[in-house]
Amino acid sequence: NVLILDFGSQYTQLIARRVRELNIYCEIHPYNKIPQNLNDFKAVILSGSPSSVRSEEAPHPDLSEIRGKKPLLAVCYGAQYLAHFSGGLVAPSNTREYGRANLSFIKDGEQFLNGISEGSQVWMSHSDTIKELPENAVLLASTKDVENAAYKIEGETTFAIQFHPEVYHSTDGTLLLKNFLVDIANIEQNWTPNSFVESTVSDLKEKIGDDKVILGLSGGVDSTVAGVLLHKAIGDNLHCIFVNNGLLRKDEFKSVLQQYEGMGLNVKGVDASERFLNALEGISDPETKRKTIGRVFIEVFDDEAAKVENAKWLAQGTIYPDVIESVSVNGGPSATIKSHHNVGGLPDFMKLQVVEPLRMIFKDEVRRVGASMGIDKELLGRHPFPGPGLAIRILGDITSEKVRILQEVDAIFINGLKEYGLYDKVWQAGAILLPVNSVGVMGDERTYEKVVALRAVESTDGMTADWVNLPYEFLQNISNKIINNVKGVNRVVYDISSKPPATIEWE
Ligand code: XMP
Repeated sequence: NVLILDFGSQYTQLIARRVRELNIYCEIHPYNKIPQNLNDFKAVILSGSPSSVRSEEAPHPDLSEIRGKKPLLAVCYGAQYLAHFSGGLVAPSNTREYGRANLSFIKDGEQFLNGISEGSQVWMSHSDTIKELPENAVLLASTKDVENAAYKIEGETTFAIQFHPEVYHSTDGTLLLKNFLVDIANIEQNWTPNSFVESTVSDLKEKIGDDKVILGLSGGVDSTVAGVLLHKAIGDNLHCIFVNNGLLRKDEFKSVLQQYEGMGLNVKGVDASERFLNALEGISDPETKRKTIGRVFIEVFDDEAAKVENAKWLAQGTIYPDVIESVSVNGGPSATIKSHHNVGGLPDFMKLQVVEPLRMIFKDEVRRVGASMGIDKELLGRHPFPGPGLAIRILGDITSEKVRILQEVDAIFINGLKEYGLYDKVWQAGAILLPVNSVGVMGDERTYEKVVALRAVESTDGMTADWVNLPYEFLQNISNKIINNVKGVNRVVYDISSKPPATIEWE
């Protein structure tokens, strides 16, 4: 187990991802909340930070329980922090120290640098620089512009590097992390999807015992993997609820429900389509749509949850990025915002104890864990789909006829992506029904029908995205298919906007 102390760098999560890729478990904690029990951690990594160590507001935690007592790797800000407070000198740099650089000096015979040779590309991102090394430091590596690019402290297992080993552009970054964690800190590489499943299932068994647990399945990856893990642990005491809000993709309710049953899950499908569509009648405002869907979902879910007698737990598919406490650097550590729930007014299921089996793993790890438990590849590779579903892809008010049209269009588009082998190259795709009619001609007749937009984006986390350059031949084929097969549509357009400034969804 490795402790990563976060000083607010945008790359902190990447450090964790790289460490996990080495099959070593790690946790991110804010620099100002160092865990009490350090015995659990075999090594510590200090992250970067947008702050300057010379500033009074910068993170200056007490590391006396760590430094010299455990293997320590300080990255970027971390390296400057060690230098600044141990007799070194950190000052604003006057050469360019952003982006690509190459190691021009590497000290011979260092275990830390095993396998790394001169010329190795590293990624820099800092505005201060270490002018003088701290006491007892030994220089390990330099680049042309950054003399003190890496150092160690004599007599300790403390290492510091100015560049970022966690970013892809530091070619030997993972090797460096491995040298530190495996060869120097002697940590075993035994944290694998299988070992995660084994230990999580045994923890869940112990925690839950013979209690009943309720889980809302959405058809998405996270809730599905959480469901299968819990089912392994407690069998049919896991009661899954899968709600059809009438805004899912074509045939999705039926096919996903069948898949769940095929996995042996104790699942109840609840078709509440009409209830949702009635509640949405006449609503055009996107936020009001979302709120309405959220409210009806809670009502439906509460009704169903109440039918499970004596349930003690509510399971959720929360994953690690939602759990990591973020460090905000300008106004100090970010305050944890606690919303004031009026517990008396909460639906009953929200009073249950919460269990989150995926709360310590990243999205790609959720997929690997799912695969190791034999969950269908196709299900694990599904595109993200928003909770309010097609409601936010039908601009303007929603009717069952519009839902039907959009489901048909969407199915042609998505199946086409699969047929052309494009589905896995796209992060998310879907169709949007526009609230305008346009003139067309079919046979000898003038038509005045709906316009649909197709959207396909590349992204890694949905925060930023770019439209996908789909082959013209594919677009041509799909457009023909849609207009020839979906009654009520006579025009197809392709969305070529990036996020920002546009968003992925149109509402
Ligand atoms: P935007 O449109 O904000 O979407 O660029 C980013 C990602 O979030 C999804 N999204 C939602 N997911 N409820 C959800 O569960 C919502 O209300 C919602 N709105 C957007 C969107 O599909 C994309 O993956």
